[in-house]
Amino acid sequence: MSYKNILVTFTKSLALLTINRPTKLNALNKETIHELHLALEELENNSEIRVIILTGSGEKAFVAGADISEFAHFSVEEGAQLAAQGQETLFNFVENLRTPVIAAINGFALGGGLELAMACHFRVASDNAKMGLPEVTLGLIPGYGGTQRLPQLVGKGRAMEMILTAGMIPAEEAHRIGLVNHVVPQDELLAFCESIAQKIIKNAPIAISKAINAINANFKEGVNGFDTEIKSFGRCFGTADFKEGTTAFLEKRKAVFTGE
Ligand code: COA
Repeated sequence: MSYKNILVTFTKSLALLTINRPTKLNALNKETIHELHLALEELENNSEIRVIILTGSGEKAFVAGADISEFAHFSVEEGAQLAAQGQETLFNFVENLRTPVIAAINGFALGGGLELAMACHFRVASDNAKMGLPEVTLGLIPGYGGTQRLPQLVGKGRAMEMILTAGMIPAEEAHRIGLVNHVVPQDELLAFCESIAQKIIKNAPIAISKAINAINANFKEGVNGFDTEIKSFGRCFGTADFKEGTTAFLEKRKAVFTGE
């Protein structure tokens, strides 16, 4: 499928998803959110794709936020609907994807851009990246999960300060507080993310998706993450990859996983 606002490229088991509205600093309009949903769904259903890297086009921005021009005139109801639809269509959708998604933050990640990066399974930033949730400067609060995921990642006090001051932090600071896992020079960002992806690709795909699900369970209200872990652990025993992984270990050879 081809899209207007995003590019999808493949290298074997790896997909690169690039948000491509550079003249608008890749701001997330409704159409882009919808296209990202479709592309992620398509990649999720392609069993050959084991890892997705999500980035922004150009050298300046990952995503500079939700597209302000689209909601500047919204009413109370329309505002609530914008947040609800966005969370369901993209942000919760990414977080719950079975296929790991790495955010390669190549520049500004602001508002909805940082919220999108935070919905990904983990984040790597280039050294020029800047991150923040500036919604209060617009008379808003973060609406795509930012008030929930930022404290999960950096702690309540730091999240409060970032959101209330609308401060923008550089990549190194984001690394120090655990918002991103690594900081690398911009021209090495994608290669670095690919090297992490290759480590994931070597492992058993069903186990990877069960691990994502169990880790996410820790942050879901009303869900006992330990129970989720027990069930998922048990289910792994019914997979061909479990047999292959344990047999290969005992035979002192490398496992070859089929994702079954
Ligand atoms: N929504 C819509 N358009 C946006 C946008 C957004 N979130 N962020 C940037 N753009 C557009 C600008 O309107 C401009 O478009 P134009 O050339 O048609 O006027 C273009 O992208 C380039 O942005 P510009 O502001 O000129 O770049 P800059 O280098 O001077 O500043 C930022 C960069 C990121 C500091 C600035 O664009 C900014 O503050 N953006 C909004 C960030 C924000 O509040 N995000 C949260 C939204 S909820």
